[in-house]
Amino acid sequence: MYLYEQHNFARCPKSLSFLWYYRFLLLFLVSNLLTVHEVSARIVYDRMYLQLDAVNACILRLNGTHSFGCTSSRSGNVGVVHVINNNTDLQWILKESKMDAYVVAIFSDMFNFNNLRALNDSERVNGVFVMQSPSRSPLENFSPEDTCPNRYSGLANPTSKRETCNEKKPWNPFGNMMSMYKWKMPVFFTSDNETINLVKNCYQMHNLPLETQLERPLCALQLSSHMFAAVDSRTCLRRNNSPYNINPIRYCDPLGDQNIILPLIPLDKPHEKYIIVSARLDSTSFFHNLASGSLSTATSLVALLMTSQILTDMIRKSDVHPRTNVLFVLFNGEAYDYIGSSRAAWDMKNGRFPLKENPIRIEDVELFVELSQLTWNTGLWYHHLPPTKTKTDDPLRTFISTFNQTAETYKFTKPEELVDTMLPPSSLQNFVALEPSLPGLVFASYQKQFKNHFYHSLYDNATNPDVDFIYANGTRPAGNDLQAFIAKFSLVLAQTLFKQITVGSKPSELQPNYTLADELLYCYLVSSDCKIFAETGYNKLALKSSLDYYVSVFGLQQNRVTTLTILAMVDLTGTRTNATERDDCKGQKVWWNAEKRICLETEINVTEARSPAFVEPGYDLASGVYSSWTESSWGQEMEVRMFVKPSAGYEWLVFCIGNSIMLLSLTTVFWIKRNAPELFNYPQLIAAANI
Ligand SMILES: *[C@@H]1O[C@H](CO)[C@@H](O)[C@H](O)[C@H]1NC(C)=O
Ligand SMILES: *[C@@H]1O[C@H](CO)[C@@H](O)[C@H](O)[C@H]1NC(C)=O
Ligand SMILES: *[C@@H]1O[C@H](CO)[C@@H](O)[C@H](O)[C@H]1NC(C)=O
Ligand SMILES: *[C@@H]1O[C@H](CO)[C@@H](O)[C@H](O)[C@H]1NC(C)=O
Ligand SMILES: *[C@@H]1O[C@H](CO)[C@@H](O)[C@H](O)[C@H]1NC(C)=O
Repeated sequence: MYLYEQHNFARCPKSLSFLWYYRFLLLFLVSNLLTVHEVSARIVYDRMYLQLDAVNACILRLNGTHSFGCTSSRSGNVGVVHVINNNTDLQWILKESKMDAYVVAIFSDMFNFNNLRALNDSERVNGVFVMQSPSRSPLENFSPEDTCPNRYSGLANPTSKRETCNEKKPWNPFGNMMSMYKWKMPVFFTSDNETINLVKNCYQMHNLPLETQLERPLCALQLSSHMFAAVDSRTCLRRNNSPYNINPIRYCDPLGDQNIILPLIPLDKPHEKYIIVSARLDSTSFFHNLASGSLSTATSLVALLMTSQILTDMIRKSDVHPRTNVLFVLFNGEAYDYIGSSRAAWDMKNGRFPLKENPIRIEDVELFVELSQLTWNTGLWYHHLPPTKTKTDDPLRTFISTFNQTAETYKFTKPEELVDTMLPPSSLQNFVALEPSLPGLVFASYQKQFKNHFYHSLYDNATNPDVDFIYANGTRPAGNDLQAFIAKFSLVLAQTLFKQITVGSKPSELQPNYTLADELLYCYLVSSDCKIFAETGYNKLALKSSLDYYVSVFGLQQNRVTTLTILAMVDLTGTRTNATERDDCKGQKVWWNAEKRICLETEINVTEARSPAFVEPGYDLASGVYSSWTESSWGQEMEVRMFVKPSAGYEWLVFCIGNSIMLLSLTTVFWIKRNAPELFNYPQLIAAANI
């Protein structure tokens, strides 16, 4: 209404002073005019609304007590476009803008927490559209995550009351906390050059110069990403189940998927001891569908796959019987307060991990080894807690010294040991919470703070300089690069595990498999349209883009990353059977690979990665003991549309005409009603109607 106050009613057509009979004429004319206007408006509408491609929205998520992220109004937020190139443009929108609603199109190098907060605080800003253009210099760092990731869970959980992060020197120094707040408006992202040019051109053509914006039609954007949930997980889950919720709308759903478990030796032959080797399977980002998690997730995941391949092969070819079983585990949903590992620890406590038959107890875990953010150019560390009891045959010490010896054999950098009372953010924390004396360590390519400049952001992709991956595609011999690092690390780890579980048997001499590392890294970092995934027999048409590691909601269907990883793991570690036809390949533990026409036997299985908060009866979601994350549902339309908004003057004219017509009809009806007896001459009827 800000705008309208500058005008006054004197500018309205002076229809009110016309004679009575002219009014009918006018009414007739105007109604005809309106029909014409409506038809032409529809044509204009069809021509002028342009749906923009390749956009990703920020969505709404909730925990037990708060909400995080963005939402638009039900019909989408509309505003005049304002492109922000630099600080001058930003200050103009905050201080000098004239229209009442703007959508800010901001370049990604200007998109940071403080600017977003300033825009969020401005009453005139109705939406934000982030544009990543190749012509602008790349960002030095951007992590929308907390500086202390998962600061309320793992060992920091209210029940264990332990310090896990140093506020002054936090694990994630580049964390800007953007994902940890609720924003009042929709925020979208695009890196599509065509879309960026459309917005820029529309802005330059219609919205410049800024001083005369009130007089002209202006380029506007409509951002639609309406989220149904509100307040917190507790409230929205209650609304889901409300008996009054007769329509099938769900307001939100718990996050989760599945953990992948691969035992070296079948679990039905009970073993006394286990070594767990783990990595995470998920990542996240501020924008939906852009959780590319290269360093946060993919490199360690590939190292785990390769280690499992080498170790199963070594055991298969040797005749020694391992004293200890090894469990390769990929935990899912770790970005959201350790969904997967907290559930596994809970299952373990309740005697059903990974299966109810032959469950593994925490006392049976001899050693826990976790791989976290591995990369080649920043060094390597063993993180572990100070030992609680000093034993001579401490499995942790044995492991570290064996690893160091083996590393020397392969000219692999010897990791440095870092003993601290604080473990880095890791799945291991949930098992230490269960058993404080559990021997465990985290392999990480960082010391006290992450080296990743883009943790949990869309820029943690193959071009992240912290992974610096260049696909060799079988052409280039391995040099000093990521492939070589992952291949050697996996080999050294597999050999160390072999020595540990067979009590010092000498493993066969092996060479690092650089090609496999190269191919796997390409699949997980660059594109799922890759050799290894194609060979698993997965539908090739569905192998197109790069992987999205976001865990998303539990239960609809298994995540693509989970399925592809299971298939790749079966291919890498399965034992070939004699069956050559699909019909002969039947049973619980066999997998048919339609691409290679082979039948593989494997011990691989999955366990539920759904937080105990949604499993334990009567759990209080506000208590913070387990992960309480849910994702809001949304309608069909997550879209950005661009159009030319009529000028303020034109809108005012339409408003005036509308008002006059309304007044006119009211007075006409009133006059007709009053004079009806004379006009229609049916006094009895009128009298009857009035009763
Ligand atoms: C939800 O997140 C907020 C802020 O990050 C935190 O203060 C709160 O403890 C969390 N609640 C639960 C139940 O985890
Ligand atoms: C900021 O960008 C605008 C164009 O969006 C340009 O006209 C102006 O000169 C720039 N100001 C500075 C200080 O660079
Ligand atoms: C954004 O604005 C809304 C409404 O004014 C407010 O509730 C919210 O706290 C703001 N967000 C941030 C991060 O300041
Ligand atoms: C890898 O090499 C093959 C054969 O030279 C080629 O067809 C393919 O396009 C290459 N892939 C990539 C991603 O460069
Ligand atoms: C996988 O786990 C399910 C239960 O979660 C079990 O019924 C099934 O037998 C397991 N499969 C294998 C191959 O162990």
